[in-house]
Amino acid sequence: MQIRQATLEDAEGVAGVLMELVAAGKRRKPATADFALGHYLTPDTRLSVAVAVEGDTILGFQSLKLAAEGNVYDVTPGWGIIGTHIRPSAARRGIGRQLFEATQQAAKAAGITDIDATIGATNDEGLGYYEAMGFRTYERLDGAVRKRFRLP
Ligand SMILES: CC(C)(COP(=O)(O)OP(=O)(O)OC[C@H]1O[C@@H](n2cnc3c(N)ncnc32)[C@H](O)[C@@H]1OP(=O)(O)O)[C@@H](O)C(=O)NCCC(=O)NCCS
Repeated sequence: MQIRQATLEDAEGVAGVLMELVAAGKRRKPATADFALGHYLTPDTRLSVAVAVEGDTILGFQSLKLAAEGNVYDVTPGWGIIGTHIRPSAARRGIGRQLFEATQQAAKAAGITDIDATIGATNDEGLGYYEAMGFRTYERLDGAVRKRFRLP
């Protein structure tokens, strides 16, 4: 398995990960290649989109965006905003852990000091994963938990 930065040609593969999550009942938001391009691959705020690739298949990806002034997530400007998506068929193989190594490198290179992860309050695997990566709860919203990672 290879970890590398996503290119625009990965839009279909990234959408494939999202579609598998929808099929497993773990996602309700869009899962198309257009969504992957517009939301992850092309935004000006993109700092990193690390993909885990085996053969021709993207098994998972992790996005890191810069929280801009007035960002819709209401994250402190200058922080990173992280999102992680692994195919359920490839979960618990350490892919999320490897992706976070790549994301941390990108965050350091961009001079980011803090990363926000906003997770559904009932998403036990997401909460468990980010806690295991060193994120700690700093805010509770209606239906969501905000966790913060401080770069060493
Ligand atoms: C949550 C998710 C990102 C974890 O990715 P992963 O590749 O399976 O994670 P890893 O195998 O690298 O696990 C690393 C550690 O995270 C924790 N973890 C992972 N999955 C977990 C689960 N289902 N329950 C509790 N802890 C979990 C564990 O501590 C694990 O270490 P261990 O396997 O040595 O015990 C993945 O399951 C996923 O994409 N889920 C659907 C989307 C989502 O919820 N994303 C996160 C919120 S936006």
